Amino acid sequence: MTDQTPKRLFIKTYGCQMNVYDSQRMAEAMGAEGYVETDRPEDADMVLLNTCHIREKAAEKLYSDLGRLKPLKAERPDLRIGVAGCVAQAEGEEIIRRMPLVDLVVGPQAYHRLPAMARGQGPAVDTDFPAEDKFDHLPQRRATRRAPAAFLTVQEGCDKFCAFCVVPYTRGAEVSRPAARILAEARDLVARGVREITLLGQNVNGWHGDGLSGFGGLIRALAAIEGLDRIRYTTSHPNDMADDLIEAHRDIAQLMPYLHLPVQSGSDRILKAMNRRHTAEQYLRLIDRIRAARPDIMLTSDFIVGFPGEIDEDHAATLRLVEQVGFGSAFSFKYSPRPGTPAHGRPLVDDSIADARLQELQALLTRQQRAAQEGMIGRRLGVLFEKPGRLPGQMVGKSDYLHSVFVHAPQARPGDLVQVRIRASAPNSLEGELA
Ligand code: 5AD
Ligand code: SF4
Repeated sequence: MTDQTPKRLFIKTYGCQMNVYDSQRMAEAMGAEGYVETDRPEDADMVLLNTCHIREKAAEKLYSDLGRLKPLKAERPDLRIGVAGCVAQAEGEEIIRRMPLVDLVVGPQAYHRLPAMARGQGPAVDTDFPAEDKFDHLPQRRATRRAPAAFLTVQEGCDKFCAFCVVPYTRGAEVSRPAARILAEARDLVARGVREITLLGQNVNGWHGDGLSGFGGLIRALAAIEGLDRIRYTTSHPNDMADDLIEAHRDIAQLMPYLHLPVQSGSDRILKAMNRRHTAEQYLRLIDRIRAARPDIMLTSDFIVGFPGEIDEDHAATLRLVEQVGFGSAFSFKYSPRPGTPAHGRPLVDDSIADARLQELQALLTRQQRAAQEGMIGRRLGVLFEKPGRLPGQMVGKSDYLHSVFVHAPQARPGDLVQVRIRASAPNSLEGELA
């Protein structure tokens, strides 16, 4: 502690789960400096915005939120405002030039230096990819809000260079954390009451560590940890679904029957223009092999519509692929050109056409999601309770397939892993009773 009175830190997180993880680690690092977290920027001594650069809309949120902070900063000039994450990496000093109320800017690979920056030591802008590993310089995990499910970053960055994607530039080259560190962090989380771990990486199934045979080997090693009941991972690239990982889905009970496997498009022409390096047919054959290993697996995906050059036939091929696979749910986005990426500057698809395609795809995906949820009615599923629900005596948790499930269970507590008979399906959740 550098001060006696606790200072207050407000963090807002945008974007992916890795940002959620990073925000937790930044809060821990600032905790060691005497900062405690607050839910209200009005009460904060420091506001930290942990940003996402994946689409233009995501990046623009930073500037509208900074605009809203202006009166607060005018009232209290000693309020410190920091920008972290992927916009920080991509735009660096430009952020301060555009928004002078920002005091510091820190990229995703440099945030172990945030405490020093906040103390006024070191530069106001740090977007280095330092040689030292940030994880070696961060304090040990702390159970801030005791939750039974936790994230654990095992891999960062990406070398795939999909033509639309900022990740190789904002998160850098692919780096895998050493197996021993990952296992130690997992054991530590389990010792603090965590029962479910989601392994994170921009290209998580490309993890290649020391001593273990690929990502499947890492999952096997994690499954040996007593008390770790559930393992998940995200996000994966189809070309890195190795045999040992598919076999892990067959053999390891703790590995949940759920796989997020973005395909982006069902058209070979567009997949090629996107530099995805696989065809629609190869994706479908891969799905066959995964389903042969784990027949009840639920598949989810990401799609981009309106990628430059996409014509009606390409869009029809995407709809066809969706029909053939049958997804439990999926995210779909209109293409957003990102500065610095290979596809930036390519002629855009007419906006109204892209909008119509997005609507059509989303309608199909919504039908599939509803059908998948209704297929759960009558089934017995494992549910890990996370917190009380809105109704008295109610708990809410995640099913094996990652659905939110509401259950009347007055005796239960967060962290209980129970069997639930599913009774009904709502638009974004299920309802069930203790089995
Ligand atoms: N425009 C629209 N969507 C994008 N995604 C990534 N980059 C872009 C972009 N430039 C989507 C992809 C990816 C998900 C995380 O975001 O579908 O899988
Ligand atoms: Fe957004 Fe990608 Fe950065 Fe995650 S890694 S915050 S999705 S730009």
